[in-house]
Amino acid sequence: MNAIAKSLSLVALSIISIQPVASKQSTPTDHTNGQLWLDTNGEHINAHGGNIIKHGDTYYWYGENRPNRGFTTQVGVSVYSSPNLRDWTNEGVALAVSEEHGSDIERGCIMERPKVVYNPKTKKFVMLFHLELKGRGYEAARVAFAESDTPTGPFRFIRSTRVNAGIWPFDMDKKAQKVAQSTNPSAWKHWWTAPWRAEVEKGMYLWRDFKDGQMSRDMTVFIDDDGKAYHITSSQENLTLLVSELTDDFLDFTGKYNTIAPGGQNEAPCIFKRNGTYWLICSGCTGWAPNEARMFTSQSIWGPWKQLHSPFVGEATGYRNMPANKTFGAQGTYILYNVSLPDNTSTLPYPIFMADIWNPRHLSQSLHLWLPIEFSEDGTPIIRWTDKW
Ligand code: GAL
Repeated sequence: MNAIAKSLSLVALSIISIQPVASKQSTPTDHTNGQLWLDTNGEHINAHGGNIIKHGDTYYWYGENRPNRGFTTQVGVSVYSSPNLRDWTNEGVALAVSEEHGSDIERGCIMERPKVVYNPKTKKFVMLFHLELKGRGYEAARVAFAESDTPTGPFRFIRSTRVNAGIWPFDMDKKAQKVAQSTNPSAWKHWWTAPWRAEVEKGMYLWRDFKDGQMSRDMTVFIDDDGKAYHITSSQENLTLLVSELTDDFLDFTGKYNTIAPGGQNEAPCIFKRNGTYWLICSGCTGWAPNEARMFTSQSIWGPWKQLHSPFVGEATGYRNMPANKTFGAQGTYILYNVSLPDNTSTLPYPIFMADIWNPRHLSQSLHLWLPIEFSEDGTPIIRWTDKW
């Protein structure tokens, strides 16, 4: 066995034997949190705000290909492949920006938080992402769809849209709809006051955007045990999360949706399900600067969602000592779980919280942070810093 094959099999073995957090010596990634993560060409992995899927024997990591300077999208969505979650090969651009003037994805647009899922019914790989149109800052606030026959693409851009135009959240009764219709966003010159917040909770921005569709910025896609897919997004000026059911082909919305934490200002939604309970971990809204994570739990994807304390504890020892109340300097992007290990006989023994440590001056150099999620006796998630595991 050559040295590489040997070290790979050791990695596989160590993954299988790993206990949540206990075994800090073993590592599926062999990358150190808080440092650059190199691909097989020796370059930092330029895939941010994305996700990982496994297809066949291969893991695919999708993410924003970020420029070294500036923040608009010049290339598109990157894809990397790996046999073991540790050695990542750059497979190039899964979805490229368009050179066509006026295209929704014209070079200089902003593509963020791409999430790729495999649809077993259509046998297609479907990508949803947050899209901002070129030259319009963050005001378009759209979700976009793309599709491919193969995991590495090229993905075909389908369309971008606001969400749920002309539709009320499914559990909003007639009385609550009337209350929302009585609100008036232009009457509020000063945000963040208690009376303004009360109006937001009544659905002031939901009503403002009712006709043309709800805003959609930071987002994720969640596939439930029954195969149904949901889009979870930061809407209403990033004040309220929406969870919307996707059609069977994952390329549209069914029209059934609900709100989560109205007025709570949550971004970067990351979700997983364990023993029938849904866990949602989000960030606050401070742009590239880190803030304290928030955690919600529910017995149903439709809620009610209960807010708990942040799952982060301790500090990022060795990495600028960033505290738990700053999410160790990072912002979540995805929770990888229920995925089989390289040996294909067992699954990852615990969820991995994947996050970005943003570097706004050189976004392409933003760091990756992967931390195992532990559970307290009552099943509540806990996330501690580890350099390497
Ligand atoms: C963050 C968001 C990122 C990006 C950034 C731009 O809050 O999570 O995806 O949109 O703001 O400032």
